[in-house]
Amino acid sequence: MQTSVVPARPVPFPVSNPLLGVLPLIQSDPLRVMERATLEFGPVTHLPMPGMEAWVLGTPRLAHHVLVANVKNYVKQTRGYEMLRHVLGNGLVTSEGDFWKRQRRIAQPAFHRERLAAFGEIMTRATDDMVDGWALGKPFDFAAEIMRCTLRVVGEALLSADVTRDADGVGRALTVGLEHLIHRTLHPLSLPEWVPTPRNTRFKEAVAELDRVVGDIITQRRAGGGPQHDLLAMLMESRDPETGEGMTDAQLRDEVMTIFLAGHETTANNLSWLAMLLGHAPDVERRLVAEARAVLGDAPPTMESMPRLPLAMNAVKESLRLYPPIWTLGRRVVEDDVVEGYRLAKGSLVFVSPWAIHRLPEYWPDPLAFDPDRWAVEDPRRQHGSYLPFSMGQRKCIGDTFAMAEALLIITRVLQRVHLSLVPGQRFTPEPVITLRPRGGVQVVASARA
Ligand code: HEM
Repeated sequence: MQTSVVPARPVPFPVSNPLLGVLPLIQSDPLRVMERATLEFGPVTHLPMPGMEAWVLGTPRLAHHVLVANVKNYVKQTRGYEMLRHVLGNGLVTSEGDFWKRQRRIAQPAFHRERLAAFGEIMTRATDDMVDGWALGKPFDFAAEIMRCTLRVVGEALLSADVTRDADGVGRALTVGLEHLIHRTLHPLSLPEWVPTPRNTRFKEAVAELDRVVGDIITQRRAGGGPQHDLLAMLMESRDPETGEGMTDAQLRDEVMTIFLAGHETTANNLSWLAMLLGHAPDVERRLVAEARAVLGDAPPTMESMPRLPLAMNAVKESLRLYPPIWTLGRRVVEDDVVEGYRLAKGSLVFVSPWAIHRLPEYWPDPLAFDPDRWAVEDPRRQHGSYLPFSMGQRKCIGDTFAMAEALLIITRVLQRVHLSLVPGQRFTPEPVITLRPRGGVQVVASARA
């Protein structure tokens, strides 16, 4: 970014523990650390930590620098990704270099707009079945329901697999797995994974459960042929251009596991947060219902009807701004770099936090307000890098269009059919377990639409 400047003295994050620095704070409230570093001390904040150099980069311009302009210098060789590899293996999210490029090229066509058109019906059918199962007037956890629904959607749409029977097991395993990974990421001194502590044993069982479900999907496809046009088929039929060989079983497992998990958990969290936000914004909910009624009547929304539901799209965008499921992106610096006058040494860690950048008042006036209408007008303040729920650059989410469509179709269909009221007395604390979840879920009561 700048090369011929004298490096400035770093602005340190204030800490009271001289030995451990910011580590205890990161362990107890990482969101707050990202937020304070970005909003109070930024744009470049040094995080004092034992044995490592770490920085928070807190402007859209710096996010663009790390994720786009100088992306080659910022790699995923961090403890967080190393932990993720324990579940996802070396798939699209965690791999790098030429291997990643090749895998991304194979998978990309499954996400082309024309392909997505076919998925709308899967999404609304899964929603209808979910709503059909709700007992009106009785409290239930919307977060758990929506997790099952999005799992079914990714299974059917991309892998042509019916995973409804496995949904509860996958949900439990995923919660155990993510909680374990964030714990180990933030507690570098915890006992190694081979030590049979109760935590380690629970984690191993959780990965075994996920492996079983993913293994079944692959085995069934190998045995039965199945559809030739979905993402699983593309992965299975791909051949290395040099050797002519297909993917090994291990590679296939890692890619399927990645799509299976990355493809439903984030979207479910987004929808949970959206339901929470709408529960606090009855006026927006009323307008969404009116928009759906005017455009669709009682018919389910489709991919084609989406452009005629702008308020629904804006509500989804705004929920991703306030509660981005991927709340922080971490990267390792490959070669010394100088940003905004600060030298980032080779090997340092840098963090870019969508959670915090989405709250910068210079770009988002009244940043804490849930205001879908802010998206109705072009705002020059919203420059590249100020909104990055899907990251940006070459490692941007492959499923961004899929996810936005899914959220819009599901929330519209739910609101067409029922009114959801939040059970009073809930706190909705964001829990950053790799992805951002509402702690304790979102307890709601559904009532029929008049
Ligand atoms: C609201 C929903 C979603 C959000 C907020 C989200 C967010 C993200 C973010 C921030 C990244 C970059 C992660 C990194 O740098 O390590 C990412 C990558 C990825 N996402 Fe998503 N995602 C969502 C939905 C989906 C869906 C529906 C799919 C698949 C069906 C998916 C598949 C992936 C994959 C495969 C990658 C790795 C891409 C690559 O590096 O080539 N995501 N996502």
